[in-house]
Amino acid sequence: MTGAELPAREEILSLSGLTCSYGSVVAVREMDIAISARSVVAILGANGAGKSTTLKAISGLIRPSHGSVRFNGVDITHVSAPKRVKLGIAHCPEGRRIFVNETVKENLMLGGQLAPKKELDSKIAEVLELFPALADRLGQAGGSLSGGEQQMLAIGRALMSSPKLLLLDEPSLGLAPLIVKRVLDALVEINKAGTTVVLVEQNVSSALHLADYAYVLSQGRVGLEGTPEELTANERVRNLYLGG
Ligand SMILES: Nc1ncnc2c1ncn2[C@@H]1O[C@H](COP(=O)(O)OP(=O)(O)O)[C@@H](O)[C@H]1O
Ligand SMILES: [Mg+2]
Repeated sequence: MTGAELPAREEILSLSGLTCSYGSVVAVREMDIAISARSVVAILGANGAGKSTTLKAISGLIRPSHGSVRFNGVDITHVSAPKRVKLGIAHCPEGRRIFVNETVKENLMLGGQLAPKKELDSKIAEVLELFPALADRLGQAGGSLSGGEQQMLAIGRALMSSPKLLLLDEPSLGLAPLIVKRVLDALVEINKAGTTVVLVEQNVSSALHLADYAYVLSQGRVGLEGTPEELTANERVRNLYLGG
């Protein structure tokens, strides 16, 4: 099935009036976000703006105090994180969080825990096709990989559950420019294959280059939103994030 057979603005995810707190700290405040199926959406903003909290609320790692999360038209606000994985939401967390003592293959298998067993081999083959650098390292401990390879493994692990929606929290952080390009190119491939991608990035120009639409968070709220063209033309965005 190709994207062209489906309505262009079919919504896969929406956040309505989402508010998330850690004790007395309100990290996300009355946030409204709508994400079209098969798009790449960037979530940008300074440290502490609420980007990671937003992703955690989408994947179910934290519960909002107000508001709702809808996925494919269904209210999933009260659905557990493992059930959301089964529904098709995968979260590649900040700082990669791979299992350093498990092998690359074991890390991938753990990502496929909720997938049908008979699909695991073909899923692993797909991940290795996307990230050939991992192919020679299947038996190596995750912790022995370079930073870039660990990021590829973290993304590969998320892909093992065949997500419809892939959430990535700062995948380019700490990686050399050439490796960043390889990782971001892989996201384009993943998106072309039909997966909706939500990308949290500090690397604003790269993120705007990939995205169809972007939200700029500020103190837990959506401060600005628009297409990359609209945001790039915005003086505040240029001054704050694109070096003037
Ligand atoms: N586990 C936590 N406990 C308390 N406060 C937190 C926790 N995680 C995040 N925060 C606070 O919530 C706000 C948003 O954080 P976060 O979503 O991590 O922002 P970002 O990912 O944009 O840097 C910040 O003020 C941060 O200090
Ligand atoms: Mg963060």
